[in-house]
Amino acid sequence: MTNPFLVFGAPAIGEAEIAEVEACLRSGWLGTGPRVARLEQAFAAWQGLYSEQVAAVNSCTAALHLALLAAKLPPGSEVITTPLTFCATVNAIIHAGLTPVLADIDPVTQNIDPAAIAAAITPKTRAILPVHFAGRACDMNAIMALAKAHDLVVIEDCAHAVETSWRGKKAGTFGDFGCFSFYATKNMTTGEGGMIIGQDKAMIARAKVLALHGMSKDAWYRFGDKGYQHYQVVEAGFKYNMMDLQAAIGIHQLAKIEQHWQRREAIWQRYMQAFVDLPVDLPAPPAANSRHAYHLFAIGVDVRQAGISRDDFLAAMNQQKVGVGVHYLSLAGHPYYQARFGWQPEQYPHAMRAGQRTVSLPLSPGLSDGDVERVIQAVGASLSGNKVRY
Ligand SMILES: Cc1ncc(COP(=O)(O)O)c(C=O)c1O
Repeated sequence: MTNPFLVFGAPAIGEAEIAEVEACLRSGWLGTGPRVARLEQAFAAWQGLYSEQVAAVNSCTAALHLALLAAKLPPGSEVITTPLTFCATVNAIIHAGLTPVLADIDPVTQNIDPAAIAAAITPKTRAILPVHFAGRACDMNAIMALAKAHDLVVIEDCAHAVETSWRGKKAGTFGDFGCFSFYATKNMTTGEGGMIIGQDKAMIARAKVLALHGMSKDAWYRFGDKGYQHYQVVEAGFKYNMMDLQAAIGIHQLAKIEQHWQRREAIWQRYMQAFVDLPVDLPAPPAANSRHAYHLFAIGVDVRQAGISRDDFLAAMNQQKVGVGVHYLSLAGHPYYQARFGWQPEQYPHAMRAGQRTVSLPLSPGLSDGDVERVIQAVGASLSGNKVRY
């Protein structure tokens, strides 16, 4: 039998998720309702927060947008973020009427470099938006110290970082807001979905109103078992709410978060062992006293070192039916941002270098041991002449 294509980032969906979705479909209530409330409560408990400090939304992009709006920053304020992130991070800043400013990464951790943040601060800076890249915690002590010194809001992009902690404290709970993604490839999924968490209950309450058209009461409240209730529009909001159908998946994904993390850690360790002699860059070990969420396992491939270019390596992996990803090309390399902000990749050399070399390998908890060995063999075969270690 020929091997099927190994889809990059395929989620691990079990019978519990399927049964809950079926129950939701049969319940007659698909929209925002009791299952979203259950997921919010469970997520708040996971984070050690009150349920009034979390709001489920339909993506991390929405969470970032709402956090930036709820923070009420003056229009045009500068928000410092990393060039090594998904475009949604910067697009959310733009859509909130603010100005993104990039600060280069640390070449070892690949997270935003606090020294580069310090150098990028101007009188217009109002916020820092660090991304816990690949699930590795940013240096939150240094970032929070800068925020305190310059009176800046901190919004943590935790799209990769549900399990991440730094010095015993969970990612997303350092800053004013933490924004999580439950997209299909993420550590827990609802298909599409996200969560915004915050220190200030009033700001989360406002984010919830903004997430549903600016209405004072949500649909479950209006049509639920308490009888019809009137609502008022108190702001011009958005359509960012999560559905019960999505939460039905998320409730069971969250229940398995530790189990899935352990499986990803085992795969990570297997890759580290197998690739130790290869002419590629391997991820830096997690920082002491921190927890890595093991969201992305990325190697660095450079033609001078590996004998194959990164893009040829991607093609070779695909030819062997192993799905791979690139996280990410430096945001400063994209034409829209170049035209609008005058960014050039050379201004952020560490992010440029990372973006030119990086390849993410499959790390889903759903991978069998056989799948993992297939990935290892494909990496070895793609780097022709270089042997993986067994
Ligand atoms: C770092 C980062 N931020 C934000 C997002 C946006 O997440 P979502 O797709 O849930 O909107 C992603 C998604 O890939 C991401 O990787």
